[in-house]
Amino acid sequence: MSDVRSDALVFFGATGDLAYKKIFPALQAMAKRGHLDVPVIGVAKSGWNLDRLRARARESVETHGGLDAAAFETLSRQLRYIDGDYNDPATFQAIRREIGPARHPAYYLAIPPVMFTVVVEQLRRADCTGGARVIVEKPFGRDLVSARALNQVLLGAFDEPSIFRIDHYLGKQPVHHMLFFRFANGFLEPLWNRDHVESVQITMAEAFGVQGRGAFYDGTGAVRDVVQNHLFQVLSNLAMEPPVGTSSEAVRDEKVKVLKAIPPLDVDDLVRGQFRAYRAEKGVAPDSRVETFAALRLSIDSWRWQGVPFYIRAGKNLPVTCTEVVARFRKPPTMFHGFDLAPNYVRLRISPDVTIAIGANVITPGDETGTQIAEMLATRLPHAGEMDAYERVLGDAMRGDATLFAREDYVEEAWRIVDPVLKRNTPVYDYDAGSWGPKEVDARILPAGGWHQPRTPR
Ligand code: BG6
Repeated sequence: MSDVRSDALVFFGATGDLAYKKIFPALQAMAKRGHLDVPVIGVAKSGWNLDRLRARARESVETHGGLDAAAFETLSRQLRYIDGDYNDPATFQAIRREIGPARHPAYYLAIPPVMFTVVVEQLRRADCTGGARVIVEKPFGRDLVSARALNQVLLGAFDEPSIFRIDHYLGKQPVHHMLFFRFANGFLEPLWNRDHVESVQITMAEAFGVQGRGAFYDGTGAVRDVVQNHLFQVLSNLAMEPPVGTSSEAVRDEKVKVLKAIPPLDVDDLVRGQFRAYRAEKGVAPDSRVETFAALRLSIDSWRWQGVPFYIRAGKNLPVTCTEVVARFRKPPTMFHGFDLAPNYVRLRISPDVTIAIGANVITPGDETGTQIAEMLATRLPHAGEMDAYERVLGDAMRGDATLFAREDYVEEAWRIVDPVLKRNTPVYDYDAGSWGPKEVDARILPAGGWHQPRTPR
């Protein structure tokens, strides 16, 4: 089953925000590459018909990436629509009919997590799950207990190799390339440990707010939305040991080991913030205490990393949109007295452009008494043909390649780390939109040498 291609794609939430922003553009891109030769059955309860869904799909691709007439025509031809309530067995009988002769459909749950259980149960009861795969959007549960319960529901209907837990960050090429950079270069490995690395920072900054997703976001918050999943995946790629091979299990085994070595966060390890005016957003509770910003410090209690603090910062309405990692090395001893040497560093920018840079001290040109950091830079701007993260993960799931998906044990370890502190209901500090978060961050969670503020991308 693992290498069988899915022969139909059924996606729940067809009229929703994720479909509009990500799924239709990914499907058009798949069609353009000649990878979309199966029926695509959208399901939702919106009172729509197929023509309306097609119009929505067209608007989606026009807004997100551009219309490709021929590819869109293919997508449009493959598209079907079922309008129905997820609680109604008739909806699932209609799905069964629409799937027709397909033996290995993939069910994609692009719906609010509270609906996962009911949809999976209905699929099972309608006898739709044999030979099938299920693709589940994040966040996977909202804490350890609910993630385990959700796993039980999924495992009641599908076996683990047929469950694909999406974290679209894994589909981003630069996230994947981090592993290549680490393990394809001999010069880095001897330095990539507690003897040389002083601290590691990961920043995911977004210069926009919740973009109409207030109702979803207010039940989620920054830690559940992007830290527990996207940024922990980045962290695992940075910190993992070399896998024994590149198979999905070999890589996922090493990732889970990183998380196992991280103690649960303490209240002192997290500062939460909320941008002013968040509570006025549609769908947000007027007295909401949900964080739109989080800064945290964690440790990895392993032979390689013990004693090295890892910092993660993520937020909405920050000064720039950029995801970047900076690993600072311990300062070199100096024979150049009077020179103020900075620590060397490795900088990995994941988006919006891809950068790998190494910061080194050099004498300031024209001034023999000064020093400055020069970056040895390898930059590659995303080019037109690059596969988008959603196209990659959807295609992989339909091919049965699980490498870029979160395994059950990984998801549970990730919750184990953040769960206790989230339940402590720690203070939420206000911050101004366009700032780097609440001032309490610098007082409580401050890397030696300060936070690295990614500069506005060129
Ligand atoms: C999503 C989050 O998973 O990732 C969003 O729900 C966030 O809040 C988004 O904006 C960021 O991903 P990307 O690929 O758009 O940078």
